[in-house]
Amino acid sequence: MKIGIIGAGNVGTGLTRSLVPKGHTVMLSYSRDAAKMAEVAKDLGAKTGSVADAVAFGEVVILATPYTVNEEALKEAGNPASGKIIWDCTNPLKPDFSGLLIGTTTSAGEQTAALAPWARVVKAIPPFAERLHADHLEIAGEKPGVFICGNDPEARRVIARLVWTSAPNLWVANS
Ligand SMILES: NC(=O)c1ccc[n+]([C@@H]2O[C@H](COP(=O)([O-])OP(=O)(O)OC[C@H]3O[C@@H](n4cnc5c(N)ncnc54)[C@H](OP(=O)(O)O)[C@@H]3O)[C@@H](O)[C@H]2O)c1
Repeated sequence: MKIGIIGAGNVGTGLTRSLVPKGHTVMLSYSRDAAKMAEVAKDLGAKTGSVADAVAFGEVVILATPYTVNEEALKEAGNPASGKIIWDCTNPLKPDFSGLLIGTTTSAGEQTAALAPWARVVKAIPPFAERLHADHLEIAGEKPGVFICGNDPEARRVIARLVWTSAPNLWVANS
């Protein structure tokens, strides 16, 4: 599957590390240091491009940015074809990690859906990036769990299959 990733940090590169060996083609985007992103992408067997390139390229688009820059990043997507799937990995954390930026009347996934009306958004917070970059995912012998949440059943199935490539336990729920 073709996968565009917005955000080439710990999560974006960690997921690239598990997806490329499983035969997926990955394009990374949205780093403030294009040379560093190109070097990391080369090591991981991925391509690089602009956000618009990655969104146009991907059948699935992984959003792996700090929550505070989601709006700015998604604006750079332009006007993509509708129906693409966004795998939203972002946590709406305050920059100092002291709590959440949004409360319980909405969610980060709903905010992403509002920013990207062209997309079918699936929320699935992946395991800690430290584990994605390690040689196994287990913590104290246990697989991490990933909850999968979204309104579109087919989109949830697609993301569940991708999450499954890194073999955590899965919980799937409607939002
Ligand atoms: N880390 C984890 O264990 C983990 C686990 C689950 C979910 N998450 C969530 O996943 C998302 C990404 O986390 P991460 O740990 O991968 O973050 P990160 O390492 O800081 O990576 C963020 C990426 O966004 C890019 N970016 C572009 N413009 C930016 C700006 N103005 N400010 C900050 N970054 C900018 C960064 O560019 P540069 O390359 O120039 O830095 C980097 O490529 C977050 O929402 C986080 O809460 C993280």
